[in-house]
Amino acid sequence: MQFEFTGNPISNISSDVVAVFAFQSEKDKKEKYTPLEDFKKIDKDLNKKISKALEVSGFSGKRGEFLDYFPEGKILSKWIVVIGLGKKSEFDPNDLRRVLGKSVSHLKGKVDSLALSIPSKELRLEPDFAAQLIAEGLLLGYYQFNKYKTEKDKKRELSSVIFSNKGDAKKEKVGVEKAKVATDATIMARDLVNEQSAVATPTFLADLALSIAKKDPKHITCKVFSRDEAKKMGMDAFLGIARAAQTPPKFIFLQYRPDKIKKKEKLALVGKGITFDSGGINVKTGDHMSDMKMDMSGAAVVLSVFSVITRIKPDYPVIGLIAATANMISGNSLVPGDVVKAMNGKTIEILNTDAEGRVTLADSLSFAVKEGATKIIDLATLTGAVLVALGTDISALFSNDRKLAEQIKESAKRAGEKVWEMPLEKDYREMNKSEVADVANIPSSRYGGTITAALFLQEFIGKKKWAHLDIAGPAFSSKASDIGPKGGTGHGVRTILNLLSL
Ligand code: BES
Ligand code: ZN
Ligand code: ZN
Repeated sequence: MQFEFTGNPISNISSDVVAVFAFQSEKDKKEKYTPLEDFKKIDKDLNKKISKALEVSGFSGKRGEFLDYFPEGKILSKWIVVIGLGKKSEFDPNDLRRVLGKSVSHLKGKVDSLALSIPSKELRLEPDFAAQLIAEGLLLGYYQFNKYKTEKDKKRELSSVIFSNKGDAKKEKVGVEKAKVATDATIMARDLVNEQSAVATPTFLADLALSIAKKDPKHITCKVFSRDEAKKMGMDAFLGIARAAQTPPKFIFLQYRPDKIKKKEKLALVGKGITFDSGGINVKTGDHMSDMKMDMSGAAVVLSVFSVITRIKPDYPVIGLIAATANMISGNSLVPGDVVKAMNGKTIEILNTDAEGRVTLADSLSFAVKEGATKIIDLATLTGAVLVALGTDISALFSNDRKLAEQIKESAKRAGEKVWEMPLEKDYREMNKSEVADVANIPSSRYGGTITAALFLQEFIGKKKWAHLDIAGPAFSSKASDIGPKGGTGHGVRTILNLLSL
């Protein structure tokens, strides 16, 4: 998809389709919808024919409502699509991303080129942000994972988007570039999550990490630790989970270093990297196992962020850590009652092999602390309980640092990724107590499972500033959204990229 900029008004652009916008009217108004400037102008050029058509059709400007109008002459395009933005009083910047994403399913296969002007002033958005939202919506909306389809879609693809601008092109171009970075990374994460676990093995993820480093060895280095090397470092918790897998485990250590370090900080990004979660000996039943190739969604975020990190250039070092393994069943699996020791010396009683993520993260987090990270953020599809608490669209945020929590919330909001903060309730810690070891891998009560899992992780971060995102809900979607199909969503990628841009 190419983005072009022109000073021409949209009536004078020859494209397959022109998009204009309208708000839904507030309750007390007579008119059903409120047209934006470019809509008014093009309607005037066409002797009010669009507004007449809208009247007949009952168009009301609801968010994501579309109306097609096919003008004859007077303007160069043959198709005008009016896009509803919802009520002005309820407008959220993410709505712009969403309606453009949704417009893709409306236009897909039918057009090569789309023209529109960016209504940043009327939406009270900075021109670069407005352009970014539009470009992200379009680029994400077009995503599909068709690698294993023998018959690929041969329909027309939207290849050019033409922005008619009123002098803000410079800023708008910056916004489009930001959108490209964000969507390249999001799409990479989606592809990784959607990939079957037979392909996306620990070795595959490790090779990918190595290839990311190879592209810019001046700024990124990567070290992959084998089972033996991880053993030497004392990662018995991670290796315990990895014992039953046929594919060898890999501990991935990525490092980004800027040209000039301006902040005395070292951020660790840690991703849960379970390439398939069968549950282990506590095998998952029925439907619960079917999507478990997605249990490396946290790792996918870390890899995808590193794949674009030199385009963002944070001015402080960032490390990426992934303990990658499948959680499988064999005569060699861990069984309930086994005790393993994490790299930081703490012992963990395994009471349920399906609570494997936190056990592998115990070693990744210990490693982050040992590496001298000043801030740690982990992303993990950690608990089914978070789906009960927050539903499918929202991830749970935990943090022991106010500033970091607020920064993540702000970054998530700008990214259009929903997060909700939950408490690290001290009184619940005793639920993680073990009779025989320092801590147990499942709590004594099944209530508050997302919180007790977060409290388990907290045992391994020492006194570091830390945030944990339980992304089990939004990482993988069982229905299409405005900005993407079913499956891997890349949730978390854009939040982290925004955070790195602060
Ligand atoms: N990977 C799962 C969590 C999960 C569930 C992710 C649903 C995405 C969708 C995790 O390893 C797990 O199995 N957790 C258990 C923990 C329990 C045994 C304490 C769970 O949530 O049931
Ligand atoms: Zn599990
Ligand atoms: Zn899991």
